[in-house]
Amino acid sequence: MKKIFVSRLLPDAGMELLRNSGFEVDLHAHSDPLKPEALRRRVKDVQGLICLLDDKIDKTLMDAASKLEVISNMAVGYNNIDTEYAASRGIAVCNTPGILTTATAELAWALLFAVARRIPESDAFMRSGKFSGWQPLLMLGGAVSGKTLGLIGSGRIGTAFALMSKGFRMRVLYNGKRNPLLERKLGAENTDLDTLLRESDFISLHVPLRESNYHLIGKREFSLMKTGAYLINTARGPVIDEAELVRVLKEKRIAGAALDVYEQEPQLTPGLRDLDNVVLTPHSGSATTETRRRLAEMAVQNCLEILRGEACGNRVV
Ligand code: DGY
Repeated sequence: MKKIFVSRLLPDAGMELLRNSGFEVDLHAHSDPLKPEALRRRVKDVQGLICLLDDKIDKTLMDAASKLEVISNMAVGYNNIDTEYAASRGIAVCNTPGILTTATAELAWALLFAVARRIPESDAFMRSGKFSGWQPLLMLGGAVSGKTLGLIGSGRIGTAFALMSKGFRMRVLYNGKRNPLLERKLGAENTDLDTLLRESDFISLHVPLRESNYHLIGKREFSLMKTGAYLINTARGPVIDEAELVRVLKEKRIAGAALDVYEQEPQLTPGLRDLDNVVLTPHSGSATTETRRRLAEMAVQNCLEILRGEACGNRVV
């Protein structure tokens, strides 16, 4: 009987599908990831691996799993997997696209407002008992309506995020593949990166992590941004040079940043936690009950389809 290893406890709907799959299932029933060596031991004789974005699935891991037929990532991003090596070994790799688009776009807006209107800071202030009444200069933040929104990446999540701006009557700039929908619905302008950085009040990142996007936003890019600009990252941490980000936030070279993903995830870059012009969330883009349930179902379904020799629409290799 084929065997599947699941690297973390999944939402119930996914576990249920696995229980009824007819395959043998081994589960790491904890919320923390396994260390690489322990993960290698657990995949030794499995055909299916269901993993998460913080499991590093590299050549060493795959070499330890001689029977492996499928790696099913419960995430749309798959930068944690050496897909080239998987392809050379004939191992299928699947992801979970589409499902988390809206949830992630919504979180990007939540972050945008949280940092612009200083929501976490205001909340902490209220709880501290320091509020002594309305004051003209208390907790002033940045306005959103009518401002310029800069979108880096024009794929599914970036598009959903931009379309949600409609009620705020924003000028929308985007950098990435031409997107006729954004142009038609919002009059969005496709610009080069430097123009977008110079002209945007809010810059939101929606690119996958590839070698070409590593530190896409670094010293030079920060120097082009407006002093009143806010940067939002719900994509992948290493897209930003976070040491530089800490420096520009400290110097108030930009107004603020809101991050859901981190360069050294789950570690925070030194200095980040001490700043009050940054809002931090724990990689929660897809963290709605509905979305996580559907992600788990899709990740399991992808794995089962490959193991059963059926067609799977979510293969990346
Ligand atoms: C993904 O699926 O890549 C997301 O980052 C998970 O929230």
